[in-house]
Amino acid sequence: MTYQFSSVSKRIFRSEIRELLKWTRKPGMISLSGGLPDPSLFPIQDIIGLTGEVLTEKGFLALQYGPTQGEPEMLEALIQHMREFGDEASVEQVCVTSSSQQGIDLLSLLFLDEGAPIIMELPSYLGAVQAFRRCGADMRGIPLDEDGMDTEYLQSVLDKMKKEGKKPRFIYTVPDFQNPSGITLSLERRHELLKIAGENAIPLIEDSPYRELSFTGKVLPSLWTISGGKGVIMLKTFSKILFPGMRMGWLVADVPVIDKIAMLKQSVDLCTPSFNQLILAEYIRRGKMKQTIEKAIACYRPKWTAMLKSLEQHMPKEVEWSKPSGGMFLWLKLPEGIDTKEIFKTALEHNITYVIGHPFHCDDSGGNTLRLNFSFPSIEQIEEGVKRLAGMIREVLHK
Ligand SMILES: Cc1ncc(COP(=O)(O)O)c(C=O)c1O
Repeated sequence: MTYQFSSVSKRIFRSEIRELLKWTRKPGMISLSGGLPDPSLFPIQDIIGLTGEVLTEKGFLALQYGPTQGEPEMLEALIQHMREFGDEASVEQVCVTSSSQQGIDLLSLLFLDEGAPIIMELPSYLGAVQAFRRCGADMRGIPLDEDGMDTEYLQSVLDKMKKEGKKPRFIYTVPDFQNPSGITLSLERRHELLKIAGENAIPLIEDSPYRELSFTGKVLPSLWTISGGKGVIMLKTFSKILFPGMRMGWLVADVPVIDKIAMLKQSVDLCTPSFNQLILAEYIRRGKMKQTIEKAIACYRPKWTAMLKSLEQHMPKEVEWSKPSGGMFLWLKLPEGIDTKEIFKTALEHNITYVIGHPFHCDDSGGNTLRLNFSFPSIEQIEEGVKRLAGMIREVLHK
């Protein structure tokens, strides 16, 4: 049989990163690579209890198809959760998604045609790069500095695009403790970005899975809140603050956008499982989510400190790294000319893995960068892993 695949299928590739991560299961390997939460935080007993309760009391709803936009109880719970973190929205402005990757997928379907220009950060979240590439988007990257997206550079790109008669369909940003860099968009830059997006009538997609995971207590207002909900579409998820196994997320936007998203979602999965929604809605309603997040912060803060300390102690001076104050990741820049994909094999020989930085760049740059994760490994693994990585980089530098 000769299959005739779609043009979309020709734009999807096996992830280089997944191929490399196959090695992480080797015994003795220290993995500083995945973006996984620490499983010791999973509230297994609570979920066992709530599962029984939901099945006993609302089994007829939990095991049934549900409304595409979300179970009413879940929508109310999401409003409560957002309010606890400073974001106001009405039920009509929210759509439950099967985690935020589905939100990205639905927004790609809603906004993108082949060749449609979009703006994103350099580097940016890999799952978004893949989704936008799959749609054939013309991705334009804006570099980051320690304050997030360089808005002056953004303005110059928009001016250039205007001359070409082009306008981006949206600007995609991960403003809080970004994946992969850990960098946060400063308050000043948030205002600047909203001003530029507003003046040019470009929607902003704010993807913020890590916002609640601040280790300093400082959480900047979301773009959604600063803008009063105008022109901003916010993607949220429980994957990083609770667990990813239920695939629960949500999207917040203007009502006309939510209407379209709900229609698209019907064609994608009809609805996110009611079972999962009713369990998590109850979890939030009982005030458990806030406690879980506090526990996560208490678990990740010493790991984050250990990684920063170990880098300071061991890394050669030629290497630069980001200094995030939350989230799960840290970003390393090696001297130009060192390819982190090429030296990955050497890292494996030292029983250490990281994530190569190049695939996070929509413009094919970033060969000398890499991402480190500190949420999953233990403190001992972080200390030993960074020491080994530093030793290996030193060897490569002095070859
Ligand atoms: C910035 C960002 N957005 C979206 C996602 C997707 O998460 P999920 O689909 O599990 O909600 C991730 C996962 O790593 C992420 O880092």
